[in-house]
Amino acid sequence: MVNKVTVVGAGNVGATCAHEIARMDICKEVVLIDVKEGLPAGKALDMFQTSPILNFNTRITGVTNDYAATQGSEIVVITAGVPRKPGMSRDDLISINAGIVKDVTLNIMKYNENPIIIVVSNPLDVMTYAAFLAAGIKSNRVMGMAGILDTARYTSFIAEELNTEPRLVKAQLMGGHGDTMVPLPRFTTVNGIPVTELIDEQKLDAIVERTKNGGGEIVKLMGTSAWYAPGLSAAVMVEAIAKDSKAILPVCASLNGEYGMKDLHLGVPVVLGKDGVEKVIELQLNEKEMAGLKESALHVKKVMKVLDDMNMFDAKYGDKPL
Ligand code: NAI
Ligand code: 2OP
Repeated sequence: MVNKVTVVGAGNVGATCAHEIARMDICKEVVLIDVKEGLPAGKALDMFQTSPILNFNTRITGVTNDYAATQGSEIVVITAGVPRKPGMSRDDLISINAGIVKDVTLNIMKYNENPIIIVVSNPLDVMTYAAFLAAGIKSNRVMGMAGILDTARYTSFIAEELNTEPRLVKAQLMGGHGDTMVPLPRFTTVNGIPVTELIDEQKLDAIVERTKNGGGEIVKLMGTSAWYAPGLSAAVMVEAIAKDSKAILPVCASLNGEYGMKDLHLGVPVVLGKDGVEKVIELQLNEKEMAGLKESALHVKKVMKVLDDMNMFDAKYGDKPL
């Protein structure tokens, strides 16, 4: 249990995330903040009015641009920014979202000394890097949400293929949040049975491909990106930290030599607890899996270089080798 969690951005993902956190009863207060007048206060009130029905005690308040209200937040989730439209990649959002994420992080740091920051804004891995540079705190306290969502998409497609209960499918998925993500069939089981025993290679490859395009599939259908699964996935990270549960989850985390890589944030399995990313778990990847992870990391570095070239920060890691 923590005192306060702030969610920045009261749009689709931020509002969903705030509500899921409130329902979990893991903090005394959720503060929802946005640039839009009235929107966070209105949504917070609406959400708070679900508390007698859903039976939770969390207070939810909404404010516009008033970062003083975020003071004392142990955990901050950043969802501020624009989502993509059909035809856009996540990387196309960098020119707008980098400025927003920098601004938001600096405002948070004015009122919060050492928060744990969870970034959701896209392009995810590089916005996590931007928040890390802006926050100036230890790298294990700044992380991004993507792996829980991407894994949920992957496991739900497997459950659909097998016509079984989604909760029985457990999987690992690594790498950046984009086309180069690395779902790992070798680490995927259905109630303990390796998925490779249940689904043939061709079908599994198709599921892996669908997972990689999972965000795009939804954008194409409704003209903007998803929010139910993303909002809940970010709340699950908040829950692990607030409860100090040491949950092992796929998280966009800072690498400092693990997997032979450093100076970037990338999706890997970690232990999440009250200190943020408490450990990066190093799986023994085979040659193909490692090559996939490396390709993904190189793509993230390329987009980090785009951010570096915007000259918003003094520190630059995009050019540094993996
Ligand atoms: P949205 O447009 O519904 O909400 C974004 C909100 O951010 C708006 O209410 C807007 O007013 C607010 N905002 C803009 N600038 C701000 C600032 N400087 N300070 C505070 N608030 C500000 O968008 P949605 O669908 O909620 O998506 C938010 C972000 O999350 C997008 O960048 C999207 O691509 C990303 N996303 C990431 C996912 C992931 O897996 N990491 C999954 C889904 C979305
Ligand atoms: C998603 O994967 C667009 O990142 C967003 O739904």
